[in-house]
Amino acid sequence: MKISIVKDKNQGGQLAYNFFKEELDRNSQAVFGLATGSTPLTTYEVLVRSDLDFSNSISINLDEYVGLAADHPQSYKHYMWKNLFQYKPFQHSYLPDGEAADEKSEISRYDSILEKNPIDLQLLGIGRNGHIGFNEPGTSFNLKTHKVELTESTIAANARFFDEVRDVPRYAYSMGIGSILKSKRIILEAFGASKAQAVKDMIEGPVSQQCPASALQTHSDVTVILDEAAAQKLN
Ligand code: F6R
Repeated sequence: MKISIVKDKNQGGQLAYNFFKEELDRNSQAVFGLATGSTPLTTYEVLVRSDLDFSNSISINLDEYVGLAADHPQSYKHYMWKNLFQYKPFQHSYLPDGEAADEKSEISRYDSILEKNPIDLQLLGIGRNGHIGFNEPGTSFNLKTHKVELTESTIAANARFFDEVRDVPRYAYSMGIGSILKSKRIILEAFGASKAQAVKDMIEGPVSQQCPASALQTHSDVTVILDEAAAQKLN
């Protein structure tokens, strides 16, 4: 794992932008794995302001809530449109369909998208409990796309985006850790003290299902972009 410590999340976004640019310079049809949440927002801001052209590229998102309509303000589809796609359209952007009637066929649809479009660059955030995507502690590292029951801590963390905790969806579709590890290159961003323990466990802890992000230790091309607060517990 390469570790880059930056001054703040804006500098982190700038650094992540360099990875996107490098990938696009190499191949205008590159496939990007994308994340939602607060962490990648500065990266998307830099991408939006840039002159990068994604119109030949493909994006594949990590996850989506089950049961939220695509136009719900908290759906990840809406988040991606609001923060990136309305300004930087991709040739094709894939997200799990949270409203799919048949869950099994939705899961196999997403797996076949991933098989046909191997990810060149995957952008990740990390949860306070070490989750990546919605792969919570205890999840097998071999899983492909799957339906996840969210933990109470993730529901509580996401509650800030909803009027009431009971409005937070209980399930999500997520790429599995097995799918994430197939990406050729991975960047994971973490900003703020609330991520410091998870960052330490990911980088210095044992490779263990208790910290899903520790699986990244087994990948050969991972760069972790941290601000000082997120890096404060590292030895
Ligand atoms: C989002 C995702 C999650 C988040 C993580 C951190 O697509 O996959 O794993 O990256 O929950 O969320 P934030 O960035 O809001 O702290």
